[in-house]
Amino acid sequence: MRKDFVANVSHELKTPVTSIKGFSETLLEENMDEQTRENFLQIIYDESSRLQALINDLLTLSSLEKEYPTVKLQKFDFELIIAEIKPGFEMLARDRHLTFYIEMSGNVYIMADSNQMKQVLINLLTNAFNYTPEGGSVTLRIYETETEAIIQVEDTGMGMEQDMIQRIFERFFRLDEARSRDTGGTGLGLAIVKHIVENHKGHIDVQSEPGGGTTFTVSIPHEGL
Ligand SMILES: Nc1ncnc2c1ncn2[C@@H]1O[C@H](COP(=O)(O)OP(=O)(O)OP(=O)(O)O)[C@@H](O)[C@H]1O
Ligand SMILES: [Mg+2]
Repeated sequence: MRKDFVANVSHELKTPVTSIKGFSETLLEENMDEQTRENFLQIIYDESSRLQALINDLLTLSSLEKEYPTVKLQKFDFELIIAEIKPGFEMLARDRHLTFYIEMSGNVYIMADSNQMKQVLINLLTNAFNYTPEGGSVTLRIYETETEAIIQVEDTGMGMEQDMIQRIFERFFRLDEARSRDTGGTGLGLAIVKHIVENHKGHIDVQSEPGGGTTFTVSIPHEGL
């Protein structure tokens, strides 16, 4: 497991670093027109952003995988956190020609680590947007039962085969490497989500059909740990 992990990390780090080094070398050595220069700088910028995101994910994972991970429980304010992340996803929805719905019933509350729970929402929504083609929709639904808060992220996207579902929570697992590469995915998002949900004594379910969309349902007990 550990050897695989190191190999995977090295591979994921190598690609952007190679590109950053190559393009900056060319910039240093050759004269070129303004437009080409700008293109090269944009590539360097994008690849360093990718690298930064990857390093952040790795640090998050390693802190979550500690034997006694730190979970700072506070009363989690869904309204506040959703207000924080909403504008970004609305912009993404416009860019991608998708409709974004938020459905929240009443004042749902849980005891949770705010940053971690926000990460769960962001990772699930990012996937829903990334894996749903133009014209589709993404719905974030928050409600509660007597004992649990339920977070549901539903999309009308490409979905996935039944036998793949159990693998998507593995680190670095991607169904379609080529496509994930375009969207900058490294396959860590759901591994992080799963750890966070488990650290909160919750569980996560996936319903999906190829071409028929995907729904992730996270349940978190009200009183936390
Ligand atoms: N809503 C979804 N619809 C279809 N496939 C999905 C969905 N969410 C996840 N997947 C599949 O599960 C894989 C793993 O998801 P995960 O979020 O862990 O990684 P990623 O999105 O590829 O990269 P990142 O580390 O940037 O999140 C994805 O590559 C994708 O193939
Ligand atoms: Mg993802």
